[in-house]
Formats: sequence, C-alpha cells, structure tokens
Amino acid sequence: MASNQNPPTPIPQEEQDLPNSKTALLSFNTDPPSTHKPTFKTNKTIFFSLLFTTFTAVIAAISFAVLFFSSTVKPGHEPIIRTTARTLTKLPHPIVLLISSDGFRFGYQFKAPTPNIHRLINNGTEAELGLISVFPTLTFPNHYSIATGLYPPYHGIINNRFVDPITGDKFTMSSHEPKWWLGEPLWETVTKHGKKAATYFWPGSEVKRKFWDCPVDYCMLYNGSVPFEDRVNTVLNYFDLPSDEIPVFMTLYFEDPDHQGHQVGPDDPEITKAVVRIDEMIGKLIKGLEERGVFEDVNIIMVGDHGMVGTCDKKLIYLDDLAPWVEIPSDWVQNYTPLLAIRPPPEISAADIVAKMNEGLQSGKVENGNNLKMYLKEDLPSRLHYVDSYRIPPIIGLLEESFKVEQKKSNKMECGGAHGYDNAFFSMRTIFIGHGPQFAEGRKVPSFENVQIYNLITSILNIEGAPNNGTDSFSNSVLLPDA
Ligand SMILES: *[C@@H]1O[C@H](CO)[C@@H](O)[C@H](O)[C@H]1NC(C)=O
Ligand SMILES: *[C@@H]1O[C@H](CO)[C@@H](O)[C@H](O)[C@H]1NC(C)=O
Ligand SMILES: *[C@@H]1O[C@H](CO)[C@@H](O)[C@H](O)[C@H]1NC(C)=O
Ligand SMILES: [Zn+2]
Repeated sequence: MASNQNPPTPIPQEEQDLPNSKTALLSFNTDPPSTHKPTFKTNKTIFFSLLFTTFTAVIAAISFAVLFFSSTVKPGHEPIIRTTARTLTKLPHPIVLLISSDGFRFGYQFKAPTPNIHRLINNGTEAELGLISVFPTLTFPNHYSIATGLYPPYHGIINNRFVDPITGDKFTMSSHEPKWWLGEPLWETVTKHGKKAATYFWPGSEVKRKFWDCPVDYCMLYNGSVPFEDRVNTVLNYFDLPSDEIPVFMTLYFEDPDHQGHQVGPDDPEITKAVVRIDEMIGKLIKGLEERGVFEDVNIIMVGDHGMVGTCDKKLIYLDDLAPWVEIPSDWVQNYTPLLAIRPPPEISAADIVAKMNEGLQSGKVENGNNLKMYLKEDLPSRLHYVDSYRIPPIIGLLEESFKVEQKKSNKMECGGAHGYDNAFFSMRTIFIGHGPQFAEGRKVPSFENVQIYNLITSILNIEGAPNNGTDSFSNSVLLPDA
C-alpha cells in the first residue's frame, strides 16, 4: 500500500469479531471484551422484560403515529403528496449522502423519542418493516454489499475475517489490499464518471482502485476515536465548497448502536441512549444542511448494516460434544459463531463430516443440538446466496436465533448481543430511510435486500452502474420520477 497511508487503525467493534484486529484468524478464543458482565436473569424476568419492551415499542409506535398524523393532517386539509421529484433550488446537481448506523436493528427507532430520524421518516420514504441484510448478517459483508450491489461471494468479503484457501493469506477488518475487495463500489463508480465522491468511513473505502485512490481530504482513514460530531462537521464542510466541487456522493459511518448492542443485548437502556445519540447526530446534520439552504436538495439515505439479538450462555452448542460422532479440531474452524464455518483438510470428505455432525446434533444427546444444522455450502438454501466463492469454506452451520457455538464448555456466564444469523430472522433487519428530492413524503415501501441500494443511488445520480445483483426496475418502485 502507498506509504502516505497511516498504519492499520482500529476496526469497527464487532462481537466475536475481535476487539483487536491482530488476533489470529484461526484462534478459537471467542471471549467477548471484558466489559461483558455476568447476568443472572431468569427466564421469567427475560420473558417479562421482552413483554415490556414489546409493549413499550407498540405504545411508542402508536404515539409516533398519532404525532405524525396530527401534525401532517390538519382538519380540512389533505396532505400534499408529491408525485414527481422536486426540482433542486440551490444545488446544481443531485447529491446523495449515505449514512450507516451500525447495528441499528429495525424497531430501535421506537425505543425513545427520535425526532430527527422521525423527521426523515415522516417526510421521506421508509422500508416499512425494515431493510433486509445479506447473509451472513455481519458488518463487513453487508456494508460492502450496500456499496457494490453484490452478494458477498461476488464482492469477495464473505466474512469479517477469513483465510484465502489458495494463498493462506488472512483477511481481517483492517486488510486494505485491493486483491480482497471485488466488484465496483459506489465511490469508484462515481469517480469513474468524472464526478467527486467523499467517504467518511465505510468498509472498503480506503482500498485503492483503478478509479479511486482514496484522496486525502475526501477519504478518511478509519479511526474509531473520531467523535461523531467531527464526522458530521466534515461532511457539512463539503457543502461550503463551490457548488461544482461538492462531492456528489458521500458516506458517513457511526459505530453505534452496534457497539453497545454486543455488550448488553438489544433491550438494555444503554441501547436507548446510543439511539438517542445517533438521533442527535442526525439532528446536527439536518440543522447544518438547513443553515446552508440545501437540506431539501440533498438525498439522504440512512441505513444500518444488520440487526441484533440477545444471546445468553444457556443457548450454547459445544463442538466437543460431537466427539462420539466426529471430532472437529479447532484448527479446522475458521469462524465459530453465529456463522459456523469449517474447512477440513483436503483429504477429508466434507460431506462425511456434515453427515456425522448432523447425526450427532439430531441425536437428542447433544445439548441444544437441534438448534444447529450443518450444510455443505452448495446445499445451503439458495436464498442465502452463499456458495459462489472459493473463499467460503465447504462446511457451513446455520444456527437458530440467539444460539452460539463454542469449541468446549467454559465457565463464561455472559449475556450480550450478536448478529450474523440467517437474514430471514426479523431481528437481523435494519432500517432504510430515504429523504430528499427524489423520495416521496410519508411513503412506506415493502422490505427489500440491501443489494438494491447501489442501483438506487446510481439512478439518483444519473450514472450507469456496474453489473450487480440488484434489479433494474427497483429504483422505479422507490424513487419519484423526474418532473
Ligand atoms: C416536509 O417537506 C416539505 C417540503 O417538501 C416542507 O415544506 C415541510 O416543512 C417538511 N416537514 C418537515 C417536518 O420537515
Ligand atoms: C484518531 O482520532 C483521535 C481523535 O480525533 C486522535 O486523537 C488520534 O490521533 C487519531 N489517531 C490516528 C492514528 O490518527
Ligand atoms: C450477481 O452479480 C454478479 C455480477 O454481475 C454476477 O456474476 C452473478 O451471477 C450475480 N449473482 C446472482 C445470484 O444474481
Ligand atoms: Zn455491523
């Protein structure tokens, strides 16, 4: 890599995805950070707290609905529904600001009053039941699917960390060598068309490419210590440039509330605080854009990368418990949980391992065994799109929601949160909100997969995108046509 780049910096925190990026890839130490505190919740308290959170969410949803309707529908006045894109008043061309709030599970927007996020929702277009992540529902695969419109096997980032089986090279969340990152991310598509892009953090954005050299001042090198306020200010400052120099595509990334979600699970008051703080950042952004007279001209797309679900030690499956059927040495295991990925040595039949593991898991003699099912990757449900890459290990295990896999029993007694599960679980969904000239006010659209976002953004910017896994007609169903 070019020498003017900083040394590898910390990486977004991710549950078993390493507090420290230098941890050996094949290590089976899945100790979460020491901040995980033991909890002694009984089933009953969990049940009641779930009941309570559900109840609160419903009440919150109803009160927001009431607020929304009472503020937009005045007696005797129908709300004005736009049917075509708004003409720009200040900016000379469309601009897209893509914001990611990591681990923003769908439904978090009802945890607390979030007036700024709700302003975007009420005056914009929302995926009514959330945005569907790609499988595996992890940070790096998902952010790069959003950026490229490709399912993970086609963009190459098949996990937050993995080994290339041919070279033996290890990918970690601080690997910026171009060889890992396939496909064409939005910042490159934009610059390829002679337009300007700016990235305030996004997995893959620091990687140099044919049409993207990660320019100083427009491509921030990842540093999780940069206060959120500074990130918002930098983005706002781009709008002070002469109008033809303002980047037409910008990214903005926040690590929260994923960070808190891993430590305390999705239902803790810590999450509520983190959500409120993200809302404040959105408020700061809106205010700054309004002061510059461009808020209504900018297309803001706010998303998350995946959801979050609570995990507790009671829901564990130990690979060593399978020993009577088959031994799984830890050095075959590339990832434990929630995506169990196993690469046995080439002389060993993967099909045989899968059969023996499933026999053990279904025998009724392995604790929680029926909550894990093993597959040869080519036998995984095709809706997961998780087969077409030599980087994906041959054996993949699918876990029931909330369960975890470990090598062997330990004394750990933590409850926290995780993601990475099957993207069909509702808890893995995140948010999609579009606000701006091309988005209808108050519109709800059905849930869709995040690989559609690439085409949505190239449509707004009027540029031709690279081939991808989104559908061509998708943009027509979400964006307003030009006037
Ligand atoms: C919603 O957008 C319209 C312009 O399309 C604007 O007049 C109105 O003030 C906005 N409402 C809010 C709550 O921002
Ligand atoms: C990361 O950001 C913090 C806060 O802005 C700063 O103090 C620190 O020097 C930065 N680290 C690097 C390696 O740039
Ligand atoms: C996804 O897109 C890539 C690039 O166009 C293509 O090679 C691949 O076949 C597509 N896969 C699916 C499942 O559509
Ligand atoms: Zn994430």
